[in-house]
Amino acid sequence: MAFRRLWQPALVASGRRGMYKAATKDVPKVEITSKIALPDSTVRNARTMNFAVGFNWTDHKKGDIDYSSCDFLAIGHDRRINEAQAEFILSQIDDGKAAWGKTAVWPRTKDSPMVKFQEAAAEWLNAEAVVLTKSGMDANCGLMEILLSNNDIPVYLDFLAHKTFRYGISAAKGEMIVFKHNNLEDLEAQMAKRGPGFIIVDSLYSSLGTIVPLKDICDLADKYGSALIVDESHGLGAHGDLGNGIVCQQGLEDRVHFRTAGLTKGLASTGGLFTGTKEFIKLFRGNTTKSVFSYAVQDYEAVRLLTALKIVKGATDRRESLHKKFTYLKQKMRDIGYHGYYLDQPSQIFGFCTGDYDNTVGLDRALKSKGIFPTAFTFPAAPRDRSLLRWTVTDQVTMEQLDYTLGVLKQFIDDGTAKPSEWPDYERPCY
Ligand SMILES: Cc1ncc(COP(=O)(O)O)c(C=O)c1O
Repeated sequence: MAFRRLWQPALVASGRRGMYKAATKDVPKVEITSKIALPDSTVRNARTMNFAVGFNWTDHKKGDIDYSSCDFLAIGHDRRINEAQAEFILSQIDDGKAAWGKTAVWPRTKDSPMVKFQEAAAEWLNAEAVVLTKSGMDANCGLMEILLSNNDIPVYLDFLAHKTFRYGISAAKGEMIVFKHNNLEDLEAQMAKRGPGFIIVDSLYSSLGTIVPLKDICDLADKYGSALIVDESHGLGAHGDLGNGIVCQQGLEDRVHFRTAGLTKGLASTGGLFTGTKEFIKLFRGNTTKSVFSYAVQDYEAVRLLTALKIVKGATDRRESLHKKFTYLKQKMRDIGYHGYYLDQPSQIFGFCTGDYDNTVGLDRALKSKGIFPTAFTFPAAPRDRSLLRWTVTDQVTMEQLDYTLGVLKQFIDDGTAKPSEWPDYERPCY
């Protein structure tokens, strides 16, 4: 396989050291008026992140191997999904209805695609009811707004729970208590001090691919009278018999109070959702900024979601194929010397905890020069000393591409481009 990236070898050749410097050199002053300028750190943080992620997109036509997409079942290009959406959009031309420009608070008819998707998703997730939101961010922040407004109930948040929760908790002026990643003792110690609250975890963490010890957390929640919120963004599609996630896979639907998800991943569509009782979900429409002051999911998206959901439910072969691929890749990586502590998790995501910025971006650029595209997670998306190279495996990746990737990674150990034994997660936890 021949891969060409003109700019990347130059950056690799310029050496590992100095990546951070290159990213933050000559930070421009952003002046809003003659008397107001943004702090340098605002601009520097944005540049740090933009530089880390890189400047080009995976080009499938050139044979690039994509380890940054979360379309786990590789259904985004499915003809049935795209045709359903396109046909719906075309059917709206000149139909005389002014359906656009309404906020989410406006009612929908019972046969609208949005209502139908909510019902279908509730059945799929074995939940009493589901609210469809415009994004996972809206689901998480909307839920926080409902739960935390006008009260002082504490929120216990796993250190690696998705950042959108932190945003939602801050906006709702909630009290956030962060516990160590997947650490039940720490969670219990905090709850013993502060009493019952909302516990927030991801079912499958988006940076390390770790899976939550769900049953134990349910037991702890019960013991303290706390409520449990599980973000299933990376569980849906890829896990569970019908792709309905890790909560359903473990039969814990009745013990988890709320599930949330972004739907760009397993369902390859825009949107988000959260589950709740029929009474509870009504609070979203009439009582959140995300609904009252912002537009609703459009019907053409709900149509896409309805078709995607049908396909996901029946995609047992794809799920099996995906599991086979990520198990193979992770096992072989360990065999060739990548002994990351978190690499044994049964999930389609994993991170190389490469440590500092230069190490992470340097390795990312070296891989991209070979046509291999993971994602660099650096400060401010990760702690400064624990930057990650995040990999997502989708069913789009072929076994041949996995073997090619492994060959490159082996070569990188041999020639010193990658030094996993110096990384913070080498055979020990670093989060
Ligand atoms: C775990 C998790 N929750 C929520 C979100 C937010 O979803 P969205 O991109 O739909 O806003 C993401 C997206 O990256 C995520 O990974």
